[in-house]
Amino acid sequence: MYSSTRPPTPDQPTPLLGGLTPRQFMQDYWQRKPLLIRQAFRGFRAPLSSREVQTLARRDEVESRLITRKENGWTFKRGPFRRLPSAEQPNWTLLVQGVDLHDDETAALMRLFRFIPDARLDDAMISIATDGGGVGPHCDSYDVFLLQAHGRRRWRTSQQADRSLVPGLPLKILADFQPDTDDVLEPGDMLYLPPNACHDGIAVGDGCMTISIGFRVPSQATLARGLLEAAADQISAQHLGDTGLYGDPVLPGTDLSALYSDAGTEPTDHPAEIPAPLVRTTLDTLQRIRFDEPVAARFLGQWLTTLPDNAFFDPTDDFANLEEAVPAAGSLVLDRCTRMMYFGEQLFINGEVAPTATLPELQALADQRQLGATALQGLPGPVCALLDEWLQEGWVHWVPQP
Ligand code: SIN
Ligand code: CO
Repeated sequence: MYSSTRPPTPDQPTPLLGGLTPRQFMQDYWQRKPLLIRQAFRGFRAPLSSREVQTLARRDEVESRLITRKENGWTFKRGPFRRLPSAEQPNWTLLVQGVDLHDDETAALMRLFRFIPDARLDDAMISIATDGGGVGPHCDSYDVFLLQAHGRRRWRTSQQADRSLVPGLPLKILADFQPDTDDVLEPGDMLYLPPNACHDGIAVGDGCMTISIGFRVPSQATLARGLLEAAADQISAQHLGDTGLYGDPVLPGTDLSALYSDAGTEPTDHPAEIPAPLVRTTLDTLQRIRFDEPVAARFLGQWLTTLPDNAFFDPTDDFANLEEAVPAAGSLVLDRCTRMMYFGEQLFINGEVAPTATLPELQALADQRQLGATALQGLPGPVCALLDEWLQEGWVHWVPQP
């Protein structure tokens, strides 16, 4: 259904963004203000039925939550759920996180938003709700597209500055929500919200399903810590030969193998005091550590492509290697769970640094998530061997042309 649809190109006006081009949307709305898009998807068909969402919520490896609005407050439970409240009972909602890891069509739907870099894309959550169901008025710290998949939901939003919460609840509910927009969304309608836009979505009637395409927003603390860790790995890796700590190719760093020297030190009558020259040398040495783009990219590439614990691969393809597969017409396709990114010469896949420079063909595989047989034919032997490894892991699949 969605797997054959491509994301809009930067200057292509698209119903997905209410007739705007991705460039206009990114300039005027992204991270700035909400956008209500009527019929972003005309004749929208949800990738999963309500029953299928409930079935997912039974599985141990699927992250789900059940939230019920009661007269005297809220209840919150974490899945898996063997049983859910009846469809006749109002005011409950079931939220299933990371559905893109478990369903190809949901993953394909999420990837229609790839005019935004993969580095920012997080997951697709699906919620189902009975009349009155919702998670209450709140603010999220990330960007989100809320796509109405089934039934109707009333969305109210507010740009209010007051973020105080009702104390003592199992959920973060705004104490004084003052909406300034109020709209009922029908199937195919979509609401974009930037971080910190307060919102409240309440199911209007039964059979409400909403798909949230959520984005990740790293804090400066996360970025700084990651960069420091990558720089530290770079130091340790220098003395380990061809491969780094985790068998990854070494990123060259400054040579820090020289030993500290204190020849000519005066005798001390304060033996417990740490010598000032040692403190100064430590600081001076730090100035010599390289904090450059390759180190930052090394951290980001490994971190951003690291898989969630509940991502699983199924290496059951008919073709165990490319040599067997390529004579037939078809393409190499990334598994729905695979995360592949690049920066400059560095290529990352599922938390690992690929032991090869980024060739244009591998960039194309990462960007398009597939590569045709013709492009594969001229690849050097070591790259083919690497792709064979990925085939055997189930990270990529060979899909013969129908
Ligand atoms: C939902 O209820 O589907 C979305 C929850 C939210 O507002 O974050
Ligand atoms: Co929210």
